Amino acid sequence: MKFFVDTAKVEDIQKANDMGVICGVTTNPSLIAKEGRDFVEVIKEITAIVDGPISGEVKATTVDAEGMIAEGREIAKIHPNMVVKIPMTVEGLKATKVLASEGIKTNVTLVFSANQALLAARAGAAYVSPFLGRLDDISQPGIDLIRTIADIFEVHGIETEIIAASVRNPIHVTDCALAGADIATVPYSVIEQMTKHPLTDQGIEKFQADYKAVFGE
Ligand code: E4P
Repeated sequence: MKFFVDTAKVEDIQKANDMGVICGVTTNPSLIAKEGRDFVEVIKEITAIVDGPISGEVKATTVDAEGMIAEGREIAKIHPNMVVKIPMTVEGLKATKVLASEGIKTNVTLVFSANQALLAARAGAAYVSPFLGRLDDISQPGIDLIRTIADIFEVHGIETEIIAASVRNPIHVTDCALAGADIATVPYSVIEQMTKHPLTDQGIEKFQADYKAVFGE
């Protein structure tokens, strides 16, 4: 399983990229709004940091296929690594079909059922984003959805990649890897949590203490 970082905060993207663990970035309208900066400006900065797929979503207020197609073409022009993120609606599927026919990669987002994932794949999506945490929030095990989609795509030889989204903690990450997600898009705070283990910290302290006791600073 590969990792993307799920944020529009350029400083965090730089930190995750410096660690060498991520190979892409996902953003969404809420994450862009949180930064309070111009969409194109932020996206250009991200493409200068990470050499991999960068998902930029169509405007939250664009609901018709024509509008999504027009915006998708503009997003794709920003950089060759751009992936157009499209909401999972009938209009979104129509836009996905057209953009895919033009060679523009799409990431169909807000996927909450296996059938939605299957439809998005058949419309030509390069990626589908099932939302794990938001299902957990309503007491439906999100990981079951990731596993089901992975099984279906495997059985039918579907090449659309599964991006496990709405990942909220390190246990989600391990579960996604076991369930067969191709990618987990993870907030920077969760990547930091994943690096930590109390025995690692204790081990470093002991090595330092033992070394200093004999050789000094
Ligand atoms: C990723 O593509 C999604 O935008 C993101 O993971 C949503 O996460 P949230 O449910 O924590 O907002």
